[in-house]
Amino acid sequence: MASTLFRTKSIDRLLVEGAATGEGTLKRTLGSGALIALGIGAIIGAGLFVRTAAAIADRAGPSVTIAFLVAALGCAFAGLCYAEFASMIPIAGSAYTYSYATMGELVAWIIGWDLILEYAVGAATVAIAWSEYLNKVLEFVGLQIPYAWCHSPFQVDAVTGAHGILNVPAVFVLSALTALLVRGTQESAWVNNLIVITKVSIVLLVIVLGWGFINPANHTPYIPAASLYTTPEGITHNYGGVMGILGAAGVVFFAYIGFDAVSTAAQEAKNPKRDMPIGILGSLVICSVLYVLFAHVLSGIATVQDFRSTGREASVAFAITKYMTGYGWLAKFVTVAILAGFSSVILVMLLGQSRVFYSMSKDGLVPKFFSDLHPTHKTPHKSNWFFFVFTALFAAFVPGDIVGEMTSIGTLFAFMLVCAGVWIMRVKRPDIPRGFTVPAVPLVAVLGILTCGAMVYGLGWTNWIRLGAWLAIGLVIYFGYGKQHSHLNAGA
Ligand code: ALA
Repeated sequence: MASTLFRTKSIDRLLVEGAATGEGTLKRTLGSGALIALGIGAIIGAGLFVRTAAAIADRAGPSVTIAFLVAALGCAFAGLCYAEFASMIPIAGSAYTYSYATMGELVAWIIGWDLILEYAVGAATVAIAWSEYLNKVLEFVGLQIPYAWCHSPFQVDAVTGAHGILNVPAVFVLSALTALLVRGTQESAWVNNLIVITKVSIVLLVIVLGWGFINPANHTPYIPAASLYTTPEGITHNYGGVMGILGAAGVVFFAYIGFDAVSTAAQEAKNPKRDMPIGILGSLVICSVLYVLFAHVLSGIATVQDFRSTGREASVAFAITKYMTGYGWLAKFVTVAILAGFSSVILVMLLGQSRVFYSMSKDGLVPKFFSDLHPTHKTPHKSNWFFFVFTALFAAFVPGDIVGEMTSIGTLFAFMLVCAGVWIMRVKRPDIPRGFTVPAVPLVAVLGILTCGAMVYGLGWTNWIRLGAWLAIGLVIYFGYGKQHSHLNAGA
């Protein structure tokens, strides 16, 4: 009985499935350049342009840069482990697939379920951020969406006292991108390349032009003294000190999410063994450097008080408009470019989500519906539309802070399991060829678990409860459906 919970899918079977071509499989069209672009397209987004300001305001002040370094460290350890897995098991499904082959069905289910937080809830977070910047664009042309129709019911305007009802723009962008996704990866990747260039350009522009506007007073003290801060939504966080930095690292960790989405496209990579590690680690390194510099500039331009009040939404455009005199054009350019940039992030997250459920469905753990392919586009179109509805509900009715932190904690938890998995695999199956090998295992795996664990700890008890509740719902579904329908059941 207990052994069925730990039954593993054989790697040989995985590889045969991955090598299969023709009807019912995904097209192999992506090279290493396309994978790095896919990575950067997924990585730079709301984490940098929205969550950084939240981390400055609620958790760490200017020491958010140290938080970015902590988060980068956790991602680097986990990223190495992801790369080894991806080079060993080059088929779709990300951490879910890897854990199915290593730690067994129950853990695989937990990870697959947990990845909904990363991809689907993550997409909702970015859609909410998109809505903030859309409002900024409209502001530039003298228009404004009423507060009620671009905020969740749990939000109140600090200035006017207006209540939110439903975030319409967030739902709109999710529907538009789902429609694009259904048309196929090839087209989406082309659009993505263009957006990646724009996105990296605006980050560089803000760093270079904003550097001269850093006010040293905003960087003093660099690490604020430890205290407590209660957000407008009434949630109290540790602010300043070591706990502030750890909490901020958990928040801005969101900004790195996405490099692992590259691994979900393994089944569409031309040469997964070589290209996956390059795609994953390459995009991670480029983004880490940009983030620390960008956060240093942003926290130097505006004050913590700004980010707690009027500068909380569309924070980058706000900081430029208020403090960088003569750079009105930059604020406008950045705002429009960010809108485009967020779109590519949402696209990759929705793609990752449908791919994970594609694999889970192929394994029988979720219904066949999730792996039905479109007759001409060969995309899992029904799954795409299902997750549109799911993400739209979060985007419409839940505040960005909450979905953002749920995304972070869910992903951190998945990363910890991946680090453990790579170590287990070295012991259990040293014979399987690996295109890429993590140096110094188990040290790197243990450091990955500890760094990600520290960020989970820093995110605080409200987030622990949300993660626990989400996992509990998942277990009910597994024991009610997945376990019986699994294709690994005897005779299947
Ligand atoms: N890393 C992605 C972002 O920051 C999820 O939007």
